[in-house]
Amino acid sequence: MLLSTHPSSPASAKVRELLARHHHAPSALVQMLRELQAALGWLPPAALQELASGLGVTLAHVQGVTGFYRFFHTRPVGDYRILFSDNITDHMLGSRELMADLCQRLGVAPGQTRADGRVSVATASCTGHCDQGPALLINHHQVLTQLDSARVAEMARLVEAQVPVTDWPSAWFDTQDQVRRADVLLGPALAPGLALAAAVARGPEGMLQEITQANLRGRGGAGFATGLKWALCRKAPGTEHIVVCNADEGEPGTFKDRVLLRSHADAVFEGMAIAAWVMGARRGFVYLRGEYRYLLEGLQAVLARRRAQGLLGNNIVGHPGFDFDIEIHLGAGAYVCGEESALIESLEGKRGTPRIRPPFPVEHGYMGHPTAVNNVETFCAAQQIAQHGGAWWAGIGTTASTGTKIHSVSGDCERPGLYEYPFGTRIGRILEDCGARNTQAVQVGGPSGLCVSASEFGRRMGFEDVPTAGAFMVFDRSRDMFSVARNFAQFFAHESCGFCTPCRVGTALVVKRMDKLAAGRGSRHDLDVLNELDKLLHTTTHCGLGASACNPLRDTVAKFRPTFEQHLQSLHFEPAFDLDAELSIARAVTGRDDAAAHMEKPA
Ligand SMILES: Cc1cc2nc3c(=O)[nH]c(=O)nc-3n(C[C@H](O)[C@H](O)[C@H](O)COP(=O)(O)O)c2cc1C
Ligand code: SF4
Repeated sequence: MLLSTHPSSPASAKVRELLARHHHAPSALVQMLRELQAALGWLPPAALQELASGLGVTLAHVQGVTGFYRFFHTRPVGDYRILFSDNITDHMLGSRELMADLCQRLGVAPGQTRADGRVSVATASCTGHCDQGPALLINHHQVLTQLDSARVAEMARLVEAQVPVTDWPSAWFDTQDQVRRADVLLGPALAPGLALAAAVARGPEGMLQEITQANLRGRGGAGFATGLKWALCRKAPGTEHIVVCNADEGEPGTFKDRVLLRSHADAVFEGMAIAAWVMGARRGFVYLRGEYRYLLEGLQAVLARRRAQGLLGNNIVGHPGFDFDIEIHLGAGAYVCGEESALIESLEGKRGTPRIRPPFPVEHGYMGHPTAVNNVETFCAAQQIAQHGGAWWAGIGTTASTGTKIHSVSGDCERPGLYEYPFGTRIGRILEDCGARNTQAVQVGGPSGLCVSASEFGRRMGFEDVPTAGAFMVFDRSRDMFSVARNFAQFFAHESCGFCTPCRVGTALVVKRMDKLAAGRGSRHDLDVLNELDKLLHTTTHCGLGASACNPLRDTVAKFRPTFEQHLQSLHFEPAFDLDAELSIARAVTGRDDAAAHMEKPA
């Protein structure tokens, strides 16, 4: 039986304060868990019990939600919780060696909490700072970029001296925007309220027509027509309509939304208010990924200013009855929550399991209300369209891919950062501009995107040729594309939410095969099995995560087959079992190693 917390304990006081502030609403569970953990360092069972009682839900429900999110801890995890970014570009910049160095200095094993409870060191999939890696996250709050040996040594000293992270050198937490090429979205900002006033002057119908005429397609990856999404949501019956900004940005290699939220928050919020005007929504949410916790105060400040300026709240821009406000909801380390229906589940305080569709969120979304979910960049584009008109936007880019697109460039190049171009720009042009040399491949759109080889650098960015959610990871000829594909396979296996068997088991089997190839024990048969797994995952999984989990593998096998074959012991089938490897320990222990007892290796 779980004992409840003592009523006078700090944990109990915090639980009661949270319950009161969130009006005992189960939909606030994820936010309450996050705040509780920030206060206590972890989530003790007794506090979870008290939370469950206060919300009128079962303890099993609270534990189920807690267990879903990687940033929640039901055991003590150290006063300093350090998570190194595990993305391939961080690896390329030496993150694994730096992590090993820090673990050795602190006397802690990766993934473990030190016996004295002071520190734990582990990995997180991608912190969203690939342009200035290697990066890490401390206590799910502060981000440290541009790590090197000197910084790691000093960090170890500060941890041992128990210096609070807030007192560490402030320059360490200076993340940069690194805007290398600006066009309409990253260029000079519009004065707050200007575009909103233009939208109101057009009326909701007129504004929707401009978005439709602009042929704006969502920037979150799938490229769904924004005008159509807003029209469907607008006409869906419901007592209220909801606008959601998807700021989960979990795709490794993507960091454009981080910069838009930090330096162009007015444009994001204004785009959301324009969407609300079109759809008649009164409530909006920003779903901010947990890794971007450090942006929260800045965003809250912009929201407060906009309320004071009459750009949020009641009678926006002086228009009677135009009432709309925005809340920020923080994620807690689950990539799948970027999928819009999983995101809505998470917003409702639940596990982020993707929903069965139809019904689609535009009809049945947050709390059953018609809900339009859009990417951060899509809202910025909507603000520009409100100001300059749909025809103007449609005149930029190509017919099928209008306007500009922001690319998050990282990897082997001299100038990583953000590059905004009109759609239709050649891949080779981006490579020239970012100072990439001797490039063998670019991973466009992150692990779930496309791997483009050198012979294809004439291809153009756009939905009709190379679609993208924003990531542009550059690999020069010194890189082993097999290792890149293996890192991506590990990413998907790590992030699978486990809801459906083909994805949960399939992604793990892909990693096992890749590990076998990496250990030099593979044969062509393994490539055939990987091909079968690709087909299975693509056709049978419940959401886009599982469906795209084999994309990088398929591309790299097709385009870099010799690299894969280098990892095969034999092109012909042979058993996966390596007798010599398996017997090596026994031979060492017994001191017996008869030459005749070894398997013959194929020539
Ligand atoms: C596994 C998974 C992760 C996703 N992550 C994001 C994300 O971080 N940001 C985003 O805008 N869309 C993400 N999406 C796409 C969203 O489901 C949705 O299509 C998008 O937010 C719609 O916005 P848009 O129409 O403006 O593109 C993800 C999809 C999947 C399947
Ligand atoms: S495909 Fe993977 S991530 Fe998507 S629901 Fe199934 S298990 Fe979860």
